Parts: sequence; C-alpha cells; structure tokens
Amino acid sequence: MKKTSAPANSNSEFYKPPKSIIRRANVKEYENLYTYSNEHREDFWAEQANNLKWFKKWKTVLDNSNPPFYKWFTGGKINIVYNAIDRHLKTWRRNKVAFIWEGEPGDVRTFSYHALNREVSKFANILKSMGVQKGEIVTIYMPQIPELAISMLACAKIGAAHSVVYGGFSVEALAERIADAGSRVLLTADGGYRRGKATNLKEIANEAMKRSPTIEVCITVKRTGQDVYMESDRDFWYHDLISLPITNNKCETEVMDAEDMLFILYTSGTTGRPKGVVHTHGGYSVYTATTHRMVFDIKEEDRWWCAADPGWITGHSYIIYAPLINGATVMMYEGAPNHPYPNRWWHMIEKYGISILYTSPTAIRGLMRFGDAWPNRHDLSSLRLLGSVGEPINPEAWRWYHEVIGKRKCPIMDTWWQTETGGFMITPLPITPLKPGSATKPFFGIEVGVVDDAGNEVKTGEEGKLVIKSPWPGMARTIYKDPDRYIEVYWKDYEKMGWYKAGDSARIDEDGYIWIIGRIDDVIKVSGYRLGTAEIESALVSHPDIAEAAAIALPHDLKGNAIHTFVITRAGVSGDKTLEQELKKHVSHELGPIARPESVAFVESLPKTRSGKIMRRVLRARALGEDEGDLTTLEE
Ligand code: WTA
Repeated sequence: MKKTSAPANSNSEFYKPPKSIIRRANVKEYENLYTYSNEHREDFWAEQANNLKWFKKWKTVLDNSNPPFYKWFTGGKINIVYNAIDRHLKTWRRNKVAFIWEGEPGDVRTFSYHALNREVSKFANILKSMGVQKGEIVTIYMPQIPELAISMLACAKIGAAHSVVYGGFSVEALAERIADAGSRVLLTADGGYRRGKATNLKEIANEAMKRSPTIEVCITVKRTGQDVYMESDRDFWYHDLISLPITNNKCETEVMDAEDMLFILYTSGTTGRPKGVVHTHGGYSVYTATTHRMVFDIKEEDRWWCAADPGWITGHSYIIYAPLINGATVMMYEGAPNHPYPNRWWHMIEKYGISILYTSPTAIRGLMRFGDAWPNRHDLSSLRLLGSVGEPINPEAWRWYHEVIGKRKCPIMDTWWQTETGGFMITPLPITPLKPGSATKPFFGIEVGVVDDAGNEVKTGEEGKLVIKSPWPGMARTIYKDPDRYIEVYWKDYEKMGWYKAGDSARIDEDGYIWIIGRIDDVIKVSGYRLGTAEIESALVSHPDIAEAAAIALPHDLKGNAIHTFVITRAGVSGDKTLEQELKKHVSHELGPIARPESVAFVESLPKTRSGKIMRRVLRARALGEDEGDLTTLEE
C-alpha cells in the first residue's frame, strides 16, 4: 500500500489500499451507505437478510417494543444450517471444498459441502437418538478438530443450542459452564495435539462430570488414541456411533423462529460467574454473513483462514457460521503456530494458497519474534487481505504484518467487536485508508459514541467510554437465565439514552478514526483471550492455604496483558516459592493454562473500599509506580 503524508495533528500515517483491491471490492463506497444504513436501519438490514434463505419471511425487521430486549426479523422462520450448508447443495458449491483441516502432526482432512452435509446429518441423527430435543443445550468441549464444527452444526440443525467451552479451559471452568447450561449431553475428545503433545481433554471432562450431575451422555471423539476412562452407560465413542449401520445420513433441518436460541457462549465479566451470552438463528446469521462478506471481501475463489479457536466467538462467527453461509473454503488448523518450526503458518499459507488470514496481535507478535527469515522462506503471494482481532494491535506488530507478511499489498482489517456483539462493529473495509493501530470506523448500521459518565461526547482525542447507540441484528439477546444481569452489565449506565456500554475505553481522532484503548472493567485480555479477575480470584481462594486474593492485568510485550496476583494466606501458612508454584499450578488446573498467573505476591492486606470491594486500580497503580488517584473511598 502507498503511504501518504499524514494530515496535520494526526498521530499516525495513512495507508491507502491498492487500486486493484478497491476496484474489485464488494463494497466500493462507505459514507453514503453508512448514512443510509442508519437513517433507514430496517431497510438496510432487510436488504441484507434477503441474501439468506428464509423458510418464511419476517413480519417485523426490528421489534423495539421492550428495550434492551430487542428482537430482529420476528415472525421469520429460518435455520442457520440451512443457509450454511443445505442451500449450497442445490448449486455447484455442492462439490466445493468447505473445510480444509490440518492436524498438528500433519494429517489433513477435507470436506466438500456435500461431505460436510453427510457428516453433520449423521451426527444430528445420533444426537436425536440420544434424546436431544429442540431447545436443549449441548455442551461441547473439544480440540480444534473437524468434529467440533460438525457437532456445532449438528446441534443447530436439529434446533438444539450449543455451548462450546474452549478446549484450553479446565475442570472448574467446564463444570461451572455445564451446570449453568444444565446440559444433559457433553461432546468431547480423548485429546488434541498442542506443541507435539497430546492434551488430556477426556480426563478433564471426566473430572468435570464428577461435579456435574446433569450429564447423562458423553460422546468422545478418538483423536489421539490415548488411554481414557469410559464409564459404561454414560460414555460412547463417536466413531462407534457414526459407523452404526442404522445411522441415517439424511436429516431434515429443523425450522426455527428467527429469535430461537442458536447458542450460548460463556464469557468472562466483572462479577463472579461467567455469563452465558445468548445468540439467535435469525439476526446472528444476517449480521455475521454481512460483516464477513463486506469486510473481508469474500469472493468465490477465496481461501479463508481465521486462525482462532472455534471455542471463542471469533471461531463461532468467522470459522464456522459466516464463511459457510458465504459459501467460502475455510482453513482450520489444530495446533500451535510455531510447531514444529516457526514457519508452520507460512508453510500452510503457501501450501493451501490462503488468500485471507485473520488472526490476533498476540499471534503476530509471537511469530514476529522469530524474525523475517521464517516467512521469507515461503511464497505468500496468494494473500490478498489480512485481519486482526482481540486486542489493540501495536504499530510495530501492524507494520511487520503489513510489510513482511502482506508485502505492503494487503490491507489489514483491524476489527473491534465482542462476544456480545456477534460480529464486527468497528472495522475498516478493504477500501478504507488505514492507520496502524486504529480499528477505523463503525460498520454499517452501527452508531458509536465515546462518552463520559454522564453521556456527553468527550473532546476529540480524549479518552472516554465506548458505547453503541442503536441496536443491530447480531447483538446478544440476553444472558442465559439472567436477564437482570444483562441489563445491569450492559444497559444500566446509560439507561436513559438506551445505549449499550461496551466495557472498553476509546478515543476518536480528528479524522473520525476510533482508537480502542482497552478494558475499563475487571476483564483481562491475555493473549487476546478474555478472562475475569473474579474467576482467577475464586480459583486462588479455592486453594486451602489462601484466604483472599486479587488479580490485575499488567502490560506484557507478547501477551498484551499478563495476570498478576496478590494473595493473603490463611493463618499459620507462610508464603514461599513452593506455595507460589503450587498456586500457579492450581489456577491452571482449575481454569486452564491461559489463566496461569505470571506472578503471585504474598501480602498482609489488600486495598479495599469501605464496602469491601478490592480496589484493583490501586494495586495496578502501585505495581506500575503510577499515581494512585482518588483514595477517599479506601478503607483504613
Ligand atoms: C477486545 C473478541 C482492540 C476489546 C472478538 C473487547 C479489541 C474484547 C479488538 C472482546 C480490536 C477485540 N482492537 N481491542 N480490534 N477486538 N478487542 O468477547 O477489549 O473475546 O471488549 O471478543 O476484546 O473480547 P471477546
């Protein structure tokens, strides 16, 4: 891309996308369509919804009779799987490659849309035979293998909702999510491969099931072949069931209401328990497919690789649902980016001719550390567009990605969004002049504000709270079984205005470009993964030696943020190196390796408000040697 001179007072240079990209872009103009999409919100979304196949057309595009519980496309009948698979079978796409999957050891499996349909249908029939009902929630705890996608699609096909728990989570995290969803069926695998080692998923699942009385059936995919404990009457092997001669490979896709639940996905929040964010068949289909098509400029011949894990929202929306709805060829990779060597990704891009790569700043920084020689060994000329998500991308990483990976010809789509938003909210289009580190402008139909506590727009360049001012089809509908919490967390602060509070801070520059700064609540983004301080603290105090704990995020070169913890031991226990190691291991065991604290400090007391809330901001300021700010609410 050509660098043009920066306008006065702009804190960053502009990168203009190449003409060849602009000429072919799916969306060629931003301003007018943006204005139209907000002034004629319902028309705009109805036009987008018309790209999908509906069993029955909606009556109302947006039902805003009971905010913040907005409904979209009410009266409409649809199933996301009908759009992601079934409708392609009637066209030449039937024989198009839907998934290319590569395992970490190097094994490869590919599925055409036709083959994917057979696998999904077979497994859907098995789930039915296990008594899975429309509306029930099936928990899925798997590594990144094709059966994970097949399981999600099979649930959706028969109208069951899925709750995918990221395979990097551990016993307590899994047990808690199963309990909240009340799942009767758990789908898992014996393990997966990560850095050359087999993970012990089934062992963790077994331990979690001991804490989960609701589970009646557990189906396990054999991936690694390691020895695992299977309980008779409860445990079944996936391959045994799928190869039963009576398993039918035809299955009708269930007709769903647009507002029927498609999935819940647990995400970390400010307080204790993770929140089950609810998404639905209709609005989510429309929103994810539209954002994917417009932002990543999907063409029939593209090979799309979203290098996230399907266990997080990025994988749900942009590995599974949106790309399949758009009939794309999707790359999926099981393992670590640097295994066996740091060229693994670059090798796969060359091998499969990947044209669009979408990943996180942490992954980019991690690979950048190995130097340019690794990517330079490979022909990366198939790449046309790049993407980034999960945390702010620092300009150094942005430039490396742009120059060394994209060879200065691939615009970078820095997409800001959240589990709760379903899809991209603030993002460039391929035609947008870019500034490294800025997510640029709102997507169509999205009205954004950066405001103070009273709701006034802050001045240009000043930091404020990021809010969304109007509803969009991909928005979360509620928190599962807890609508009050949904209001409390997202809508209470700007109740009068009816705005959604994102939980991030941001600033808008003189060109109207939006810069995301980071979380302002007690959510920590570690390597782009979302964790709650409360979850980490509760894992720490579940250790018998610990009385109280606090967790904070401090900047980390590679991970963006790292978790630092402060603990008070129980009377008679003294903190030492052995206990520190034990506590780190304990958190890993309960929550997962991603939650492993960087440091554990033993302290005598924690700064608290008079009402007993830990003042993490004070801990953070002290750790960084910064001003501690207003301490008037601090308890003696
Ligand atoms: C952060 C991930 C800066 C942000 C899709 C948000 C980002 C949280 C970006 C949601 C970005 C996501 N630039 N920050 N491009 N994308 N974030 O729910 O703090 O796992 O609130 O969804 O990630 O994390 P979640």
